[in-house]
Amino acid sequence: MNLKQMAGIEAAKYVEDGMIVGLGTGSTAKFMVDEIGRRVREEGLSIIGVTTSKETERQAQELGIPLKGIDEVPYVDLTIDGADEISEDFQGIKGGGAALLFEKIVATYSKKCIWIVDESKLVKKLGKFPLPVEVVPYGSQQLVHLFKEQGYAPVLRTTDAGQILVTDGGHYIIDLHLEEITDPIALGTYLDQLVGVVEHGLFLQIVSTVIVGGESGPKTIHV
Ligand code: A5P
Repeated sequence: MNLKQMAGIEAAKYVEDGMIVGLGTGSTAKFMVDEIGRRVREEGLSIIGVTTSKETERQAQELGIPLKGIDEVPYVDLTIDGADEISEDFQGIKGGGAALLFEKIVATYSKKCIWIVDESKLVKKLGKFPLPVEVVPYGSQQLVHLFKEQGYAPVLRTTDAGQILVTDGGHYIIDLHLEEITDPIALGTYLDQLVGVVEHGLFLQIVSTVIVGGESGPKTIHV
């Protein structure tokens, strides 16, 4: 079985009747949403989903998963989402799929967060995967200059068609090619205070369980 699919199916087992469930974005999360859709259809599982992107919203609607917006629920019981990198101390980089802002909002208001990954996403230290920073379009070139000066090797993200990518929230993404992040908390704090930065892809102290798809089966790590 595909390792992302293995992790997605395993994580869907944590969803219980009556839960409000945050539905992540990306190729791994897609398998989890498919499996929740199957459980809704075949097992009569009764949940409310809160999606983290237009892409996941479309998928969940097609599967018949009842949905509400993040502002229509009092809280989220459990969010299941993918990740681009997870370090040894369970900090993560997310946003490869450009959904980091909504993903971080939903994760922040969730009682529990499960990340689903294949084993290639586990790293010693974060940073090989370019760190996405979501920015307001106005002044975005100023931020690119600033990041260049800092030696962060910034690249404004474009679509396959070569247009500047616009997120679901109407922002741009600057990917920082850092190679190694020695202090994720300090970097996150620095990025948080920059004018024009809406959010960044460092997800720190947020995950409760990691499910890793591997050749010998799914491995569940409680953080
Ligand atoms: C979306 O913005 C991301 O945070 C994804 O969750 C992350 O990029 C993992 O994606 P894959 O499951 O497609 O690798």
